[in-house]
Amino acid sequence: MCGITAYIGNKEAYPILIKGLQRLEYRGYDSAGVVMIENDCFNLYKKAGKVKVLQDFAESNNVLGNIGIGHTRWATHGVPNDTNAHPHVSNSGRFALVHNGIIENYASLKEQLKQRGYTFKSDTDTEVLVNLIEEIFVKEEIALEDAVRIALNEVIGAYAIVVLDNQDTDTLIAARKGSPLVVGVGKDEFFVASDASPIIEFTKNVIYLDDQEYVIMRRNGDIMVKTLGNIEKTPFIEELEMSLEAIEKGGFDHFMLKEIYEQPKVLEDAVRGRMSAEDGWIKLGGVSEYINKINSAKRFIITACGTSYHAGLLGEYLIEELSRVPVEVEYASEFRYRNPIISENDIVIAISQSGETADTLAAIEIAKERQALIYGICNVIGSSIARATHAGSYTHAGPEIGVASTKAFSTQVVILTLLALQIAEHKGTITTSYLRQVLFELKNIPNKIKETLKLDAQIQEIAEVFKDATNFLYLGRGVNYPVALEGALKLKEISYIHAEGYPAAEMKHGPIALIDEQMPVVVLATNDSAHEKIVSNIMEVKARSGKVIAIVNEGDTEIAALADYTIAIPQTEEILSPLLTVVPLQLLSYHIALMRGTNVDQPRNLAKSVTVE
Ligand code: F6R
Repeated sequence: MCGITAYIGNKEAYPILIKGLQRLEYRGYDSAGVVMIENDCFNLYKKAGKVKVLQDFAESNNVLGNIGIGHTRWATHGVPNDTNAHPHVSNSGRFALVHNGIIENYASLKEQLKQRGYTFKSDTDTEVLVNLIEEIFVKEEIALEDAVRIALNEVIGAYAIVVLDNQDTDTLIAARKGSPLVVGVGKDEFFVASDASPIIEFTKNVIYLDDQEYVIMRRNGDIMVKTLGNIEKTPFIEELEMSLEAIEKGGFDHFMLKEIYEQPKVLEDAVRGRMSAEDGWIKLGGVSEYINKINSAKRFIITACGTSYHAGLLGEYLIEELSRVPVEVEYASEFRYRNPIISENDIVIAISQSGETADTLAAIEIAKERQALIYGICNVIGSSIARATHAGSYTHAGPEIGVASTKAFSTQVVILTLLALQIAEHKGTITTSYLRQVLFELKNIPNKIKETLKLDAQIQEIAEVFKDATNFLYLGRGVNYPVALEGALKLKEISYIHAEGYPAAEMKHGPIALIDEQMPVVVLATNDSAHEKIVSNIMEVKARSGKVIAIVNEGDTEIAALADYTIAIPQTEEILSPLLTVVPLQLLSYHIALMRGTNVDQPRNLAKSVTVE
């Protein structure tokens, strides 16, 4: 939530900051701002709306300065307007600050500052922090870095911040607790950003700041990393693996479409080196140290949010079905607040694309306190969740920039499939020949996704028919029930159509009342063990004049005769079918959203990485 960029060096800061904000816009797009220092003065521009609005405004003014900070906002405290946009400047006009996160005790700090004469223009917690820093700086007559540290020790909450002092153009200070921050190390220049995407084209050398650390960067190339307890640390410089192409649209109109189409490739990346169908082995490298504990676990608890939670539900099905080990799945936001029963013998699996979701991080902390082994399934390398877990597997989906998650989901499901198969093989609950059969089929899945993507034009025609619907129902059974939930989530997120996912057999216990000739019902009706039951569910919908869009396997004439529209995808192993059935649902929501004129990649009110509770 919220994206931060900063620069100090010999180049003009503004072009770097604004391009960085465009790359980070997926993190929040309510308002944006930049400030550069020129001749000891701030060139400050802030605007409600997207980065483009800011850009048009700033570029008709003076944007000079070779040190600066920028911000794109997802509003928490205060409505999105020009005043609440970051950067925020202290009362004296000397310090400017950008912030990602939430200062929980901001109200009491604000009250105290007011009593001491400070005034506030905005409703934000950020303006409180910049004034707190200023007050400490003035009162204690100390260096800014010390004032920042002391102020942060008074603050409760989560933050990534960057601070500027217009009386010192040689220093940039950044700090983090709970929100991500990456420092790019160039030659006599530094870049700071919420993720590596604004940095990649300038340098591959980065420092991922740890929680409760701050960094002081000087124009002469000196850098110092310290803990908020004032202990100096040796900066650990890593080389970025990300490529520039991976964060550009590559000829697609939207990141979401590009990411849907990337699924064949990223699924190959997700399994590369982790399995051999020919030799019948699975090796999840990041868990090898704990493999015995995982293989002999008595219970798994999966925790995640949103789309990652849906992958978790599939994980439950896969692990229980294949290895007969009980699995519980819970929204991290519920798990963290309800004193869950966790023992040191449990394995807690935390799933997160961004690796920054605050609720999932908090759930991990609870599970850690109770001595459980935490296994992370994350996409973003070096992210907070990846680092907070004991063991883990990266999904290798590459940067996912469209706010609606697509390829991350598929790769999460692939990792969970490998994990379930591995445990099952160890326990002897599946045969070696079945293991090989599934692994061979997993190898074929990228090609089958390519086949499924060829249905895009047909799905577009169906989207045209239903683009004005106000409600949608998604039904599935077994492994395809979580896919129904995911299809409904995708549609509501980007098209703003109300949609619900339901287990098909539950329809008769309530949602059936909604069905009339206006109600499109998307039914996941592949040739699996529930096929005959699904046929009955379709008939129940048709008997009430609902419009059925059925995802079937090629050659299914029975359902084709019943449904209003059928989308025929290749046949596969039942446990792998979500990897195919989800694709038409992603495309359907994409096309409907496009036809309704919504912003597909940056749907309203959402942000890609939810670092607030
Ligand atoms: C859905 C979506 C969100 C995320 C959720 C969890 O398309 O993007 O529901 O899935 O916010 O995010 P991560 O996986 O980053 O923890």
